Amino acid sequence: MHKYEKIWLTFGTSALVIFLVILGISAVHQGHSPAASGIETINPEHVRDDARFKEPGLYEAESDEYDYELYFVASAFQYEPREVEIPKGSRVRIHVTTPDVIHGFEIAQTNVNMMVEPGLISKYTANFNKEGEFLIICNEYCGVGHTDMTSLIKVTGGEE
Ligand code: CUA
Repeated sequence: MHKYEKIWLTFGTSALVIFLVILGISAVHQGHSPAASGIETINPEHVRDDARFKEPGLYEAESDEYDYELYFVASAFQYEPREVEIPKGSRVRIHVTTPDVIHGFEIAQTNVNMMVEPGLISKYTANFNKEGEFLIICNEYCGVGHTDMTSLIKVTGGEE
């Protein structure tokens, strides 16, 4: 009986060690980080030094997957650009970051709804097939100017 107890204890301890080793490796291998796996990071103090966020706005996409890349800087208490025009029917990759605090990025009447956190670049791909004006609103409380924090997307009758 004593022998079996020993074997059982050894088995239990080994299982725990193996489990912790696997967990430890999978948490950090291939560049994974426990904080935010797969999300691109950026130094929030140097957002403007990044070419993409120097003059945020709509740019022709280099990849065939999208028609445009759309860059936004969200800060207390505004979005830059304040207004952007997108040709109808465009497939757009949206990138948003912030130099200060957590903001929201929701495009009303669409399923675009992201949290924008300092240090991270939030991304979302959306198709703009409906003509009209769409309000961008901040849905994370960020301070006294929170309710005034908006921007506008104008989807115009572009090439079909
Ligand atoms: Cu920005 Cu609320």
